[in-house]
Amino acid sequence: MQLKEKDLLGIQSLDPAEINLILDTAATMKRVLASSSKKTAHMQGKSIITLFYENSTRTRLSFEMAAKYMGAATANVASSSSSVNKGETLLDTARTIDQMGTDILILRHPQSGAPHLIAPHIQASVINAGDGMNEHPTQALLDLFTIREKKQNLRGLKVAIVGDLLHSRVARSNLWGLCKMGATVRMAAPPTLIPSGLQGLQVQLCTSIQDAVRDADVVMGLRIQLERMQQALFPSINEYAHFFALDEKAMALARPDAIIMHPGPCNHGVEMPTIVYDSDRSVIQEQVTNGVAVRMALMFLLTSRRNAAL
Ligand code: CP
Repeated sequence: MQLKEKDLLGIQSLDPAEINLILDTAATMKRVLASSSKKTAHMQGKSIITLFYENSTRTRLSFEMAAKYMGAATANVASSSSSVNKGETLLDTARTIDQMGTDILILRHPQSGAPHLIAPHIQASVINAGDGMNEHPTQALLDLFTIREKKQNLRGLKVAIVGDLLHSRVARSNLWGLCKMGATVRMAAPPTLIPSGLQGLQVQLCTSIQDAVRDADVVMGLRIQLERMQQALFPSINEYAHFFALDEKAMALARPDAIIMHPGPCNHGVEMPTIVYDSDRSVIQEQVTNGVAVRMALMFLLTSRRNAAL
């Protein structure tokens, strides 16, 4: 089995069999990463470029490490020091990178739809590393992988997602992914941080975190994205934390074996206190580790598809 599309632009376009293929391949990659030599030849002779118009620690670095572990050549284009600053368009930048024989272009961009714009115009596979408030598909894949590893199966799980739903591409990608894989999703946020489009989707919107978290198998906190807010959407950080922080009292309502997740970076004391972030229930550090294995799997599968198409 292969991935159907040349690119990974969102979870919305993947079917459950493709998601399982990526997660199963990631399990193999994780075993490789645990061995004494992390090196494989899965991407020998291939090249990847990361093009990030927004800050990143986890996503950019894990793509780069994943590619290096598989023998690919890697380079990063920092938009701040590129010809983007001379006014070059995104499409011209992508075409320039494509002409250098790049196999995979990994793009993070503040505008929703930016990877969808360039993908049809270049030969390289495009991976969406986060586009505006739209999707962050590789984060959702590593989240699905982490949940499946901890709970064996995604079907039938109750997942609570709490925080800045309005600006969260992580929440959107996870919602698509979790629903496709048979989980039930509950979400909670202040009313001003709930996007209008959610009402029509397969999600139970809750007015309090208590309602969202009660009996949940998985609890996911989301970062408050102050940098995307043009105006104050809640009275103060303290009041937000008072009503929506995933503290020990809130977590006591979840199932005793519930896990707590966060895509990072986390505002400690706002989305959750450090004592919860570092608790035995927390799989936040494992999410980071799994990000490398999942991105190895995805790039390997996209490369295999490209090889088969030649
Ligand atoms: N989760 C996530 O996308 O983190 P970075 O912004 O550090 O890449």
